[in-house]
Amino acid sequence: MATTHDQALKRTHSCGQLRAAEVGGHVRLCGWVRSYRDHGGVVFIDLRDRDGVTQVVFDPTDSPERHELARSLRSEWVVSVAGKVRPRGPDRINPKLPTGEIEIVADDLVVLNKSDTVPFDPETTEKVAEETRLKYRYIDLRRPEMTRNLRLRAQICQIMHRILDERGFVEVETPNLTKSTPEGARDFLVPSRLQPGCFYALPQSPQLFKQILMVAGLDKYYQIARCFRDEDLRADRQPEFTQLDVEMSFVVEADVMEVANAVLREICAACGKPFPQEVPVLSYAQAIDQYGIDRPDMRFGLLLQDVSQIVKTSSFKVFADVVASGGVVKGLCAPGGGKFTRKDIDGYTAFVAELGAKGLAWTKVEEGGFALGSAKFFTPEVQAQLRQAFGAKAGDILMFVADKPAAANKALAALRSKLGADLGLYKSDDFAWCWVTQFPLVEWNKEENRWDAMHHPFTSPRPEDLDRLESDPGGVGARAYDIVLNGTELGGGSIRIHSPQVQQRVFGLLGISEESARVKFGFLLDALRLGAPPHGGIALGLDRVVMLMVGADSIREVVAFPKTQRGICLMTEAPGQPDPRQLQELYLRVNRPQDKKPVPGENPLSGQ
Ligand code: AMO
Repeated sequence: MATTHDQALKRTHSCGQLRAAEVGGHVRLCGWVRSYRDHGGVVFIDLRDRDGVTQVVFDPTDSPERHELARSLRSEWVVSVAGKVRPRGPDRINPKLPTGEIEIVADDLVVLNKSDTVPFDPETTEKVAEETRLKYRYIDLRRPEMTRNLRLRAQICQIMHRILDERGFVEVETPNLTKSTPEGARDFLVPSRLQPGCFYALPQSPQLFKQILMVAGLDKYYQIARCFRDEDLRADRQPEFTQLDVEMSFVVEADVMEVANAVLREICAACGKPFPQEVPVLSYAQAIDQYGIDRPDMRFGLLLQDVSQIVKTSSFKVFADVVASGGVVKGLCAPGGGKFTRKDIDGYTAFVAELGAKGLAWTKVEEGGFALGSAKFFTPEVQAQLRQAFGAKAGDILMFVADKPAAANKALAALRSKLGADLGLYKSDDFAWCWVTQFPLVEWNKEENRWDAMHHPFTSPRPEDLDRLESDPGGVGARAYDIVLNGTELGGGSIRIHSPQVQQRVFGLLGISEESARVKFGFLLDALRLGAPPHGGIALGLDRVVMLMVGADSIREVVAFPKTQRGICLMTEAPGQPDPRQLQELYLRVNRPQDKKPVPGENPLSGQ
């Protein structure tokens, strides 16, 4: 009797499960035809599902009809196969496959669905254009590597749930249709049909809700939360992304950091990655001083040195002038960089110029003294001091940027990263964690002529700095902390303001008037007045955590359906144009400039 469709779906095993121990058993597998080989008689197919691949054999002497059907199979057809498990001959064992010791001699074959020729072979080792991968994401996700990424992501979420549940955290969902939650990006807005002319904002994070949950007495909250930010996208940024969001009452910085460490330690253990007993802690000032950036890549040294005091009287006018006008001369010593050619150095100069540096001074270190580049400007005495400051030895190169501190740090931080990679100063599987603490509360926004919150406006100033909040805002420290892995910021958080008066003062400092604060954050100010406990928390970027655990260079590799740099989903072609009726219902009219026609799919990944 022919197998019915329903019977064909009754799998006994997955395609990655069978081993020699199952030899002799009768099994049924369902999956995709990964490859087929017709050996002029016997037909072999490799059947694939998310777990692996099993070889299936069709013998013409068994059943000519089934053999004929097997010969018609093509790549990516969906089939159900039943048969007996038998050992492969010793010469046909495939040690690369976990199922490589066995094969199935088919006694049943049902074609569940055919497939057109796929746009690319999910098993190909060749590089497929990312546009194609994103357009046909379901084919891309059939690739074992992508399946592995998604499954690891799910496993990491399970670990997050487990560790936080064990510690008494309560998972609470917070709304996605809400009011603006300022995290420094633009909001995505959703028009309200019931309140014409009004818009919800999608949450940039659940920040305010989690604080309100502390006022509500929840004590320990977490959520694996979706966040939405309309900002410029890059390899580690998506317009919608996921955070492990945590908030706790009656805590200080170390309590929150300990919880984050516990979660990350467990994730690393599951992924076979190192997590130190003690995570190094750097102050913001130290990070900027030594690495030029607040998310230092600690996999290698190559520390920046401020040599302003050494070179300020040198005959190199640029250096002297910059120092005299309040700038700095900072530099680094690239070990073995003495081998750089003129072309290499021109490349690095162009690289820092792109970042706004006016130039890159350099000189090579030789036994007898400095050579080439700016060597002639450095007296033997200055040379000796520079050598000592950098710990330089013959065969190294010194590189300097002279500029305002922020500009010099920006250029040198990027140069340091590039040199670290170019000179092979770390191994691809190195992991270097650090916490960065003692951030300033605010930073000056030159364009807008005002103070901006360095984290967000709800971060608590250090109590000892409170009386300087108005007189010296730039000198006020924040109770904030970031966790960094290999130069990527994985998470950040802070102890929050729980006093309505302090919150009002910080709003004032940020140029948010009392009236505007009332309109935007009235509910928070009310809540702070009604028994708000001291509280703090953190959010870890799930996508970035998974990206680094799998060693990917973009979070698009660990997001099932990511968007391109232009915010487009190439598979669904979102965003789309709404139906005129939908707009009417929302009382909206689109007023799009002629040159801003939507062009889904047009060179979407350029510039990434
Ligand atoms: P923050 O804005 O630092 O803090 O975000 C926390 C972490 O979220 C990740 N992240 C992103 N990941 C992918 N794409 C993006 N566009 C993106 N933006 C941020 C990063 C980052 O470290 N409410 C505060 C947390 C708190 O104070 O508790 C917040 O959202 O890994």
